[in-house]
Amino acid sequence: MKIIALFVLLSFIGIINAETSEECPLSPVIGNFDVTKYVGQWYEIEKFTSGFERNLICINAIYTPINESFIQVQNFGFDPVKNETSSIKGYAFVPNQEKPNHLIVVFKIKMGDLLVERPGKYDVWATDYETYSLVYSCRKDESTNKKVENAFILSRNKTLDSINLANLKKMLSSNGFDVSKLIIAQQDCE
Ligand SMILES: *[C@@H]1O[C@H](CO)[C@@H](O)[C@H](O)[C@H]1NC(C)=O
Ligand SMILES: *[C@@H]1O[C@H](CO)[C@@H](O)[C@H](O)[C@H]1NC(C)=O
Ligand SMILES: *[C@@H]1O[C@H](CO)[C@@H](O)[C@H](O)[C@H]1NC(C)=O
Repeated sequence: MKIIALFVLLSFIGIINAETSEECPLSPVIGNFDVTKYVGQWYEIEKFTSGFERNLICINAIYTPINESFIQVQNFGFDPVKNETSSIKGYAFVPNQEKPNHLIVVFKIKMGDLLVERPGKYDVWATDYETYSLVYSCRKDESTNKKVENAFILSRNKTLDSINLANLKKMLSSNGFDVSKLIIAQQDCE
């Protein structure tokens, strides 16, 4: 009887753990987030991406307002193997004005002859608009029931001071993100 009870208890704990660790964290809402102050150029400082990514270095993005609801997104990176810069264009918008820091970014991906739109979340967790930004996205993969997450520590410059960097990592860890997964983005191109 005791053994059964223990077994039930253990599997209960197991289920709880599995569920909490695979649940996407809620992104904070920054009610007064101002996308017009957020546009401009951002450099990747550290990041984690779940999906496949080409081996680009020196990645940076330029956001340009299109109109009051849409911004143009252009990502640049350098491919050291091909020795060339590559870029991809997309757009972003805020689907719910009550959560102005939760954006959707849509890139057009070439698949054969077709241009397919691929939307992704872009939640700004923290920014002072002038120095740093912390961007996070997470979705639950329906087939594996696991979360697919991305995190980006961005800077207006190619470097970011250690105090801001530490604070942003602290925010990630306190929301259950394992910061040891972050990799340092190379930014030493011309
Ligand atoms: C803003 O720009 C987008 C993308 O070009 C377009 O689809 C949309 O209709 C525009 N909205 C307004 C209000 O002009
Ligand atoms: C890379 O390309 C630049 C010009 O685009 C050229 O000057 C340079 O020699 C190239 N480097 C290599 C290693 O091929
Ligand atoms: C960016 O770097 C330049 C020099 O490289 C420095 O003068 C400036 O203060 C930096 N800006 C920020 C926001 O760290």
